[in-house]
Amino acid sequence: MRSAKIVGVGSYAPPKVLTNKDLEKMVDTSNEWIIERTGIRERHIADDKTATSDIGLEAARRALEDARINPEELDLIIVATVTPDFIFPATACLIQDRLGAKKAAAFDLEAACSGFIYGLSVARGFIASGEYDTILVIASEALTKITDWEDRATCVLFGDGAGAAILKPAEEGQGILSSYLRADGGNWDLLRVPAGGSRLPATHDSIDKRLHYMKMEGNKVFKIAVQSMTEAAIEGLKRAKIKIKDLSLLITHQANARIINAVAKRLGLPPEKVYINLDRYGNTSAASIPLALDEAVKKGKIKKGDLVILVAFGGGFTWASAVIKW
Ligand code: ACO
Repeated sequence: MRSAKIVGVGSYAPPKVLTNKDLEKMVDTSNEWIIERTGIRERHIADDKTATSDIGLEAARRALEDARINPEELDLIIVATVTPDFIFPATACLIQDRLGAKKAAAFDLEAACSGFIYGLSVARGFIASGEYDTILVIASEALTKITDWEDRATCVLFGDGAGAAILKPAEEGQGILSSYLRADGGNWDLLRVPAGGSRLPATHDSIDKRLHYMKMEGNKVFKIAVQSMTEAAIEGLKRAKIKIKDLSLLITHQANARIINAVAKRLGLPPEKVYINLDRYGNTSAASIPLALDEAVKKGKIKKGDLVILVAFGGGFTWASAVIKW
């Protein structure tokens, strides 16, 4: 079985920035509350003309450039998203066309905020089996399109952005050392968009009741997120036969600084080994980990040979980890 490694990363966020001060004018909230309860200061917002494929395309181009790979070399494109351009066709097909990746198969993957790690794991499996050699995994979200700007409990949390990674075969013991994927559908209703799918197609009533926007029971999600991400990290490290003390960096899903710090504390990791950028992006669901990963690589926080763990938690519920030797 072949190993797989990341040979290039890229990310992109739409230029428009919405600050906490801007939100103070929209709902009953304050800059202080948002920073204290979440760690978020500002987030990027897509304009009316920009959809998830536009954001993901730019991240993909940057990852291809970073990997010095031509789009025609791609065998497969996976797009992790909860905010596809359309119910169908897949956002991955739209990006495949615009990249000119003529040879590539393409599909979307939905695992909410864990989508990037789920995507990495699927890509790793295709490389291990020998079916594909060059795979592009993109996580792209336009979450602000499904954000209820009248609900202060959720609208302060989310932002738009994308991150991408190119995977190729690697020597044994290099690249992705382990992946761990979990799900628990028993809690599906704690974090969801109630309408717009086959359960409740769009009607005047569903729109009047604001059912096409994200709903979240934040407090319950918070507790389960901390437990699940801690478990995913421990299990992922066990599978990779790596000790916590040997890790160079932890990159978790960027939902809330208090969640990230609680996970790091349970794992016994000092703050300098934890990467946080949610202060500038908010929660970008599947995109948050590759956005942070790209930033950490470009800032020189991850160097060749470093051991990095990615850990995610999201709607579904889903949770996951991946241990990578960079
Ligand atoms: N501004 C001011 N006050 C607010 C705001 C706001 N924006 N939002 C809520 N409040 C109030 C509430 O009304 C409540 O007031 P009350 O005590 O008078 O009733 C009080 O603040 C506390 O509310 P809580 O919901 O208990 O606040 P909490 O500390 O739990 O923080 C938050 C809320 C930030 C949502 C947190 O629960 C959280 O981060 N949850 C997890 C999110 C997450 O991890 N998601 C992962 C997946 S995301 C995805 O898949 C897309």
